[in-house]
Amino acid sequence: MKKYVLAGCSGRSLYMFAKPMEETFSKHARLVGMFDPNYKRMEFYNRQLKKPIPVYDSFSKMLKEQKPDCVIVATIDRYHHQYIIAALNAGIDAITEKPMTIDDKKCRAILAAEKRSGRKVTVTFNYRHAPYVTKVKELILEGKVGKILSIDFEWFLDTKHGADYFRRWHRRKENSGGLLVHKATHHFDLVNWFLKDEPETVFAFGSRRFYGPTRKERGRRCLNCKYKKTCEFYWDITRSVWGGLDNKGLYLDAEDVDKYYRDSCVFSPEIDIEDTMSVNVRYAEGAFLSYSLIAHAPYEGWKMSINGTGGRLETEEYHSGNRVSDNFYNIRYFDRQGNSMTYELAKAAGGHGGGDERLLRMLFVRDLPDPMGLMADSRAGAMSILTGIAANKSIASGRPVKIARLMD
Ligand SMILES: NC(=O)c1ccc[n+]([C@@H]2O[C@H](COP(=O)([O-])OP(=O)(O)OC[C@H]3O[C@@H](n4cnc5c(N)ncnc54)[C@H](O)[C@@H]3O)[C@@H](O)[C@H]2O)c1
Repeated sequence: MKKYVLAGCSGRSLYMFAKPMEETFSKHARLVGMFDPNYKRMEFYNRQLKKPIPVYDSFSKMLKEQKPDCVIVATIDRYHHQYIIAALNAGIDAITEKPMTIDDKKCRAILAAEKRSGRKVTVTFNYRHAPYVTKVKELILEGKVGKILSIDFEWFLDTKHGADYFRRWHRRKENSGGLLVHKATHHFDLVNWFLKDEPETVFAFGSRRFYGPTRKERGRRCLNCKYKKTCEFYWDITRSVWGGLDNKGLYLDAEDVDKYYRDSCVFSPEIDIEDTMSVNVRYAEGAFLSYSLIAHAPYEGWKMSINGTGGRLETEEYHSGNRVSDNFYNIRYFDRQGNSMTYELAKAAGGHGGGDERLLRMLFVRDLPDPMGLMADSRAGAMSILTGIAANKSIASGRPVKIARLMD
């Protein structure tokens, strides 16, 4: 049985890793320690587990004492590289949450440390494992669209989920790289995986005109805001249990230690990430990607069209709004002889379109073959963030950015 430790007692690590390891994968994986700078959050975390695990305020001490086989990194994005590199330098493999990191310098440092150490970095791209997405990959591998020439990809976050990135640490580029890194890493990874290719040149526009200081009626945080009765973005941290997460226990009750305010105002002037983004990418083998991401849609989901020499695939999935109750999602295929075909897929239960559960089994049990290449390595982690990192540079400079220059 493999021994794991956690870097970061985040909401994600509790529900994605710690609880499933205890409840479902206890025969295959054992959590032997956790590290987080906030001791109150670790205490809360342990109260959520049936069997408390040792807590550490020093990451290196945890590695020395517990001698794990693998470190799971699920902290704020800006610190991922620190724990990945420290694990590799100690001769330990790392599993990291997306995004692998947030800028090109840290990305190069991770790749160099992995090469030096001979250990392995795995990036948890759960969307690849969602049955709907896996079916798209399967159809591409069957040759339905032939050689892919272009992809149009639209991702729209609604004002519940999307707004949440503007309430907390994600809202500063120095923490998350902005949504083109933090969120779009999932999406660029899917495109790279579908194309079996890597991005070459990126050009982007981005703006923030919905959140940020766009209205006068704003406060510091929802908890004591004088506009709580009238603001449609009011979010009650004392009562909110979102996706099974006790926000009061994990955040509010621990905030005096590190001043992490989980319910900060989405209209704060401190926000420096974009809420509306448009990106064009040329791939090494010539395919084009046209991508857009917004964080203020009335309902949430994504749409993608894949155009190839043999035909076209059209996909769409909804995460909120009228169509969220659909039991089936379609993939439509059009060939060049005027025929079309609809593949109907039952909606999968579980996190991220059913992807979370499947990914965990591949991580911890490792009993499934992987002919489609579902598991993602550091190269995939790097290529999926470099498009967003290049897009950030392009937004700042107004010029196209070559990915190769970021890898030097
Ligand atoms: N794959 C997915 O679909 C998915 C979904 C949600 C979150 N995530 C990822 O999981 C990670 C955690 O996100 P979250 O929203 O659950 O976070 P969170 O806000 O719940 O928790 C962040 C944690 O980081 C800790 N932290 C702060 N500074 C630190 C430091 N210097 N060193 C170590 N830890 C530090 C905080 O104390 C806190 O416990 C992020 O990287 C995020 O991108 C992935």
